[in-house]
Amino acid sequence: MIKIAIDGPSGSGKSSVAKAVAAKLGIVYVDTGALYRSVGYFVRTKDTDPHDAEKVEALLPLITLDVRYENGVQCVYLNGENLGDKIRQPEISMYASAVSAIPAVREFLLETQKSIARKNSVIMDGRDIGTVILPDADVKIFMTASNEARALRRYKELSEKGVEVKYEDVLREMIERDENDRSRAVAPAVPAKDAIMFDNSEYSLEDSIDYVINIIKEKTGKTE
Ligand code: DC
Repeated sequence: MIKIAIDGPSGSGKSSVAKAVAAKLGIVYVDTGALYRSVGYFVRTKDTDPHDAEKVEALLPLITLDVRYENGVQCVYLNGENLGDKIRQPEISMYASAVSAIPAVREFLLETQKSIARKNSVIMDGRDIGTVILPDADVKIFMTASNEARALRRYKELSEKGVEVKYEDVLREMIERDENDRSRAVAPAVPAKDAIMFDNSEYSLEDSIDYVINIIKEKTGKTE
């Protein structure tokens, strides 16, 4: 079994790269951000302030999350409902970031993430995979790119999905969210000491995938 940790800020391309690498290597891709987004979504439906730790914590017993793989695609079920793209809205990104700073939320999602990794060879992407979830990962990569490159990618991704957004708003919200994620007290989004730093501002998606595959090959000998 191999464990690969990919961390980095939003728009660094980690999910696109991790998804492609998982398909190439025949291992399971785990998008851990989707779990925080699902909690954020639930908090939003309850009209609760996502920064209010006490109120958010009180909602956690009402949440059952189930991660399933349907035709190779990760689906998160919240209390029996497949949330699909509902968790991809920019508003939910901000809710996810806010609730992810609450220790009880991180604790709530810990076992779900660890148990998937215990049962499967995985490539997981998130913010604390190399530091908290898979501290013994075979490969740890921290992906970054310039603010502008990341915002442009996120803008294109949202536009393609039909979400109406302005580039300037995407850039501003992205910088705000990354600052939240980096500066929080618990499991901040920082590289693990033994992570390989990969700035892919100038890389195409294909080149980023090749770069990561090569690192994995070097470190584990795994090619397919
Ligand atoms: O990867 P993403 O943009 O879908 O993540 C949404 C938010 O969830 C992100 O702003 C911070 C939080 N998150 C986290 O704290 N830890 C993770 N492992 C993954 C996501």
